[in-house]
Amino acid sequence: MKKTKAIILISGNGTNLSNIIENIKSGFIKMDIFMVISNNSKAKGLNIAENHNIASMIIDTNESFDYVLSDIVDKNNIDLLILAGFMKILPKIITDKYDGKIINIHPSLLPKHKGLDTHKKVIKAKDKFHGASVHYVTSELDGGPIIIQGKYKVDQYDEEIIKKNIHMIEYQILPIAIKWFVENNIVKLGNKFSFNGEILECPIEHILKN
Ligand code: GRF
Repeated sequence: MKKTKAIILISGNGTNLSNIIENIKSGFIKMDIFMVISNNSKAKGLNIAENHNIASMIIDTNESFDYVLSDIVDKNNIDLLILAGFMKILPKIITDKYDGKIINIHPSLLPKHKGLDTHKKVIKAKDKFHGASVHYVTSELDGGPIIIQGKYKVDQYDEEIIKKNIHMIEYQILPIAIKWFVENNIVKLGNKFSFNGEILECPIEHILKN
């Protein structure tokens, strides 16, 4: 079977990228990272790519972003685009063209708190639960079918603590979603997705491991 070729898009620290690399090394995910793309030349995640000998590229999202990205994807037969802390909205031309092949990690229990500053929103609303979601990317911001979610009961309304807790959840659910994609367990079908051939009406809830 052909090994899945992925591009990972980042904007910042890249701790999710690092976690994906560890999951590939351990054999949990059988995938090649073809390239790491950042819209931010100062993203620390670029050093992580370099340290692991993964090709990287900085793309200016203001100019011909869609053309450059789709050229790389098409010429290199890329199977999967993973947004792992990528803070730019992908143009509709890209989300439509690669429908079903783009996934994103979002730091909230979608459909709650789409967009930015999700931890602040949770603090403001005094939400009892918070979590993270992996979803397919469509032209609707943070609106594509949700594949998997992990949640926890918020006990401290402190942004730094919340951020740490959410990262711990992300490090569990993103590799699982990638593994399901790579092993063809999940397939996007319009605004739903199937798991092993069965259409699911709601996201899969991940039980957190300590
Ligand atoms: C993650 O919390 C992700 O959900 C959000 O940005 C953060 C990126 O963290 N969109 P990192 O760059 O992977 O450390």
